[in-house]
Amino acid sequence: MKKARDLKELDRIFGKYLGKKGKITILLKNLKSLPKEKRKRRGKELNLLKEFIEKEIEEKAKEIKEKLTAEILKKEKIDITAPGKKISPGHLHPLTQVQRKVEEIFQSMGFSIVEGPEIETEWYNFDALNIPKDHPARDMWNTLWLKPQNQKSKIKNQKLLLRTHTSPVQVRYMEKHNPPLRIIVPGRVFRHEATDSSHETNFYHIEGLMVDKNVSVANFKAIIQKFYQKFFSASAKGYGGPAEASREGGERQIEIRLIPCYFPFTEPSFEVDITCLACGGKGCPACQKTGWMEMMGAGMVHPAVFKNSGLTPHQYIGGGWQGFAFGMGLDRLAMMKYKINDIRLFYSGDLRFLNQF
Ligand code: PHE
Repeated sequence: MKKARDLKELDRIFGKYLGKKGKITILLKNLKSLPKEKRKRRGKELNLLKEFIEKEIEEKAKEIKEKLTAEILKKEKIDITAPGKKISPGHLHPLTQVQRKVEEIFQSMGFSIVEGPEIETEWYNFDALNIPKDHPARDMWNTLWLKPQNQKSKIKNQKLLLRTHTSPVQVRYMEKHNPPLRIIVPGRVFRHEATDSSHETNFYHIEGLMVDKNVSVANFKAIIQKFYQKFFSASAKGYGGPAEASREGGERQIEIRLIPCYFPFTEPSFEVDITCLACGGKGCPACQKTGWMEMMGAGMVHPAVFKNSGLTPHQYIGGGWQGFAFGMGLDRLAMMKYKINDIRLFYSGDLRFLNQF
């Protein structure tokens, strides 16, 4: 008993002598069969023995328990003088930071921020934007289609897809809101593409739409130029580069130019270039010596898009609406701002990269 190391062992010893089938218990039970005198004496002895064992066990149990508590206390001792573990706070992802900056600038120019669904119908992503079913222009967006069994029954007869751009929100918004309107639509878009340093299957777009009676390309130019000047200004975190010298009042002097191009949902359509940020327009390897960098697609909203949204385009009698739309890659914007050379870094979850922002 004295040698028992833990409570379990002690329990076993208790059982052996005093349990239901314990040695002493059985002897006590058998007392009945003894003659009266002997029974009395034997009973006394046995009871003394029983008490002794019980006491011994109790003492040993106390000893074991005390030892156990002492051990725990020793092990779990808190050193209140030890220096604390520092919890380093996280921060917003660079893409989120850039998105917020873009939103802030456009909000200061009277634009509201609107969102749309990432799973889109064929109608909103293509047809409503004047991209006919079998038109080769559909190949411009490498679409990820959803399998029919994944579709909700509510949108029967409509093929579903992961939106390839944020332009469908133009129609969704104009269906519900009458002009004049100014919105930007930041959001995630998806394309079925091989990934490389400038392509991802998942990335971010910012759509813009401004509609009123007399909104023109001149308005677009002024607003977009202002946007880039503010976005790439020295005060904005992450800026740097030789063209910094050409700043005025904290805003960077950036020129923009429009090059004619084609989108089915704008007419005329143009590609927007800005002064190369690396060389300030002189020409360098980053801009293939042109002095310009391509930034976004844009144009004047096509009359068919107005009609598909339930609005009257300007060309019809009695006024009507006109405006511009644009779409730019948020990732590209962030890459240019922070001089990042691989889009995949944004989605790598690599803390060595993320901690730099
Ligand atoms: N949605 C177009 C694209 O994904 C960009 C764009 C938006 C062009 C709006 C014109 C007007 O390439």
